[in-house]
Amino acid sequence: MPNSSAAALAGNKSSGEIKGKSFEAFKNIFKYAAPHKLTFVGVFVCALLGISADLLQPYLVKIIIDDHLAQGKAEFGFIALMAGIYLGITFISFLFTYLQNNLLQFAGQGIVAKIRKDLFHHISKLSMSYFDKVHRGSLVTNVSSDTETISQFFTQVFLSLIRDGMTLVLIIYFMFRLDTTLAWYSLTILPVIGLVAFMFRRYLRQAYQVTRSRLSRLIGFIAENLSGMGLIQAFRQEEEQTRRFNEHNQSYWEGNMREVRANVLFNRTFDILGNLALVLVVWLGGMAVFHHTMEVGVLYAFTSYIRQFFQPINQITMQWNTFQSTTVSMDRIWKILSTEPDVKDPLPDHQTVLKADEAHGKVDFDHISFGYSPANPVIPDLDLHLDAGEMVGIVGTTGAGKSTLISLLNRFYDVNRGSIRIDDIDIRDIPQQQLHRLVGLIQQDPFLFTGSVLDNVRLFQTDISREKVTEACRYVGVHDMIIRMPQGYDSLLSERGSGLSAGERQLISFARIMVFEPRILILDEATAHLDSQTEQLVQNALQTVSKGRTTLIIAHRLSTVMHADRILVMKEGRAVEEGTHDELIAMHGYYEQLYNHARQATEEE
Ligand SMILES: Nc1ncnc2c1ncn2[C@@H]1O[C@H](COP(=O)(O)OP(=O)(O)OP(=O)(O)O)[C@@H](O)[C@H]1O
Ligand SMILES: [Mg+2]
Repeated sequence: MPNSSAAALAGNKSSGEIKGKSFEAFKNIFKYAAPHKLTFVGVFVCALLGISADLLQPYLVKIIIDDHLAQGKAEFGFIALMAGIYLGITFISFLFTYLQNNLLQFAGQGIVAKIRKDLFHHISKLSMSYFDKVHRGSLVTNVSSDTETISQFFTQVFLSLIRDGMTLVLIIYFMFRLDTTLAWYSLTILPVIGLVAFMFRRYLRQAYQVTRSRLSRLIGFIAENLSGMGLIQAFRQEEEQTRRFNEHNQSYWEGNMREVRANVLFNRTFDILGNLALVLVVWLGGMAVFHHTMEVGVLYAFTSYIRQFFQPINQITMQWNTFQSTTVSMDRIWKILSTEPDVKDPLPDHQTVLKADEAHGKVDFDHISFGYSPANPVIPDLDLHLDAGEMVGIVGTTGAGKSTLISLLNRFYDVNRGSIRIDDIDIRDIPQQQLHRLVGLIQQDPFLFTGSVLDNVRLFQTDISREKVTEACRYVGVHDMIIRMPQGYDSLLSERGSGLSAGERQLISFARIMVFEPRILILDEATAHLDSQTEQLVQNALQTVSKGRTTLIIAHRLSTVMHADRILVMKEGRAVEEGTHDELIAMHGYYEQLYNHARQATEEE
């Protein structure tokens, strides 16, 4: 869609650099076509046979006219035979064109499905730092419409090149076979066609790009409006938004009309040129027939070929647009496919296996330092050690770096300095898949997938039994809520669980953790959405789940962390105070302030 924006981006770079990259992109995307080599050979053969059959027809008529009718022979049997052959050829043309189209679609769609699959797989492996930089909407475009453009390349552009290219060559061949002089005359029109096509092509491409970008703006506007509908109605923005929508709609309409006009003009101009050429042939050929230097049948065949001459040229120039967008799409897709994730799995001979059921859960942050950008360290230097099975609470100001610490333990990002170890193994040496089974994370806004409640709890792992899921849900107190839903555990959740309250979503994610039983449990503001009664329920469940597990609880509410074995107070990426609740109160520091503040608030209530 945003071809124009990509073109604008490309405009910032030197054209040499772009050309080199385009070539690399082309080369690599074309590798996807390699397994379909044989199919493409099949397409080529079918196209050749189909086109030959098509183009033989006028020649056949010429034979009938010149060799029989014009000579006054009355061989009805022969003419009937020729008519039969003509019909047979029509059938052959139909058969091979059908085959050729099917084979081509088979290969083209196969190639694109594979690209789409690889692209999605690759994107899901990229590091969080990548998603911080790249607009997610544009990734959606890459996976959906850019791959579609590439599909058009393989199914339309490629077909046009084969089919129309061959048609042209064969027509020219037949014309020269029939009459060399007339063929040369006909070819004089070629430069004119070339010039017209070139001029229109530029204009059409521009018009096409304008419409595309207007359409993508329109779609973006609709999507934004739909997701913000509540706000729009609450602030009575309906009129204003409708006015803005009409503006987008109108400009898209105008763009479309411009494109349509240009298209019609282009095609008609081509028709006129075609008719001019026909007039030329009839005039010159007619004179020749008149002077008996040419047979009538030859003239007939010639006029048929001249009519068919323009169609392929028209087609090929029209495909130029698609070809241009394909280069842009291929560049963009290759750019994603060639991006290496910042966070890499250890090499097979460097990795250490740490199975979830064998790990103890000792965690060490050894003087780590980290910043999302190197110039701006969020955690300058932090040294924190958690014993296996210990429960540690973290409190601190907003933006202190608490969630960042958790992201580092999950390896969403890698530390800049120092190291994080689990059971004395650097987490960079543990395959990420194992690490994520080891560490269970519950965030403030849990992510629910489109699917049943059951599958959301067991994360689509069908080897986890329904009983285990219900048990976990009972445990965190969400079972009653679930069975009240129309289909119970099989109720479908849509779009991130939009039909549930924030607290209900939260409880489902608690059940998820209970099912997966990670060695290390992390809660980042996980109880913030729950009322105090439900929180108490979850606290109780948590006491049991966290038994024997290393647990890290981040919370603004002190009541959540008060009972932890140890509490860490963070401020600007540093641990400023540390100890049990009582020890911290006795310190008369930041924690005591927080505590007094919270107590005051509850008393006022
Ligand atoms: N993806 C990111 N890219 C750049 N900066 C970020 C990113 N995420 C967080 N930050 C910055 O890092 C700092 C620490 O953020 P973090 O989310 O760790 O704070 P926090 O302690 O969890 O705060 P809160 O209590 O509000 O959740 C903040 O200044 C924030 O602006
Ligand atoms: Mg946070």
